[in-house]
Amino acid sequence: MTTPSQHPSDTPEPGARPAEQTYAAASPDVDVKAIAPESDDEMLVESRTADVFDADIEAKAAELAARYPQSRSALLPMLHLVQSVQGFVSQEGIAFCARQLDLSEAEVSAVATFYTMYKRRPCGQHLVSVCTNTLCAVLGGDAIYARLSEHLGSDGEKLGHEQTAGEPGDPGSITLEHAECLAACDLGPVLQVNYEYFDNQTPEQAVELVDALRRGEKPQPTRGAPLTDFKSVERQLAGFFPEADDVFRSDVDSPSQAVETLRGAQVAADRGWTAPVMPENAPLPDLEAK
Ligand code: FES
Repeated sequence: MTTPSQHPSDTPEPGARPAEQTYAAASPDVDVKAIAPESDDEMLVESRTADVFDADIEAKAAELAARYPQSRSALLPMLHLVQSVQGFVSQEGIAFCARQLDLSEAEVSAVATFYTMYKRRPCGQHLVSVCTNTLCAVLGGDAIYARLSEHLGSDGEKLGHEQTAGEPGDPGSITLEHAECLAACDLGPVLQVNYEYFDNQTPEQAVELVDALRRGEKPQPTRGAPLTDFKSVERQLAGFFPEADDVFRSDVDSPSQAVETLRGAQVAADRGWTAPVMPENAPLPDLEAK
């Protein structure tokens, strides 16, 4: 039997093969073995995950599972919970989710490897995402990414996509990634730190920003909540927020609209334009029976 590593363009023969020899991974730098399902043996899974996820995380996972009529619906927030502990989705994290939600590790792995928000390698204290989609790219996003990649690199090597400057998790460590449209095209070129926006950036501003992060500072995003760190944000994405309302307001709930974003609505309001009223009973198009 040929293997993908020997003849990457050949169609693989059917049948089981070691995980590191599958075509499951989209790119050659993905560590397939690290994310591949291992055993579903319950005792083994429990002992593998117990060292990593403590009683508090177990309780939070149970709380997530109970939020949905079908517990498997809790998988996406639970993967964020896993990242809030380890800074990525490890094999233990996959096993943990599978055990909590009565899924197979293969099912969890399939979801975790589908979405780019789930990281396959440990992230830095901060995740810096530079929009290199078309509009931001032509406005300067490509130049920002290139400058940061060079600035954060070492020994003459540029920092690559999803690579980390510094030891992952250490204070001041930064994972760089290029991102597709970050839904702020009117403010491009944009970048995000831990998913908070820095609008209308230049390469020089981006370099100043990452230098401040490396010094342990937390510059205020252009809009939205104050900066924390990647793991804290992952806990929020899992659905766990500060309980005290005033802390919640100051930590999480901040104004996110921008003048540019509201300009169209303002023009419409000034001119008295309104959208057509939706009829009470809108007729639905006929669908062809299958
Ligand atoms: S193209 Fe960058 S935010 Fe849309």
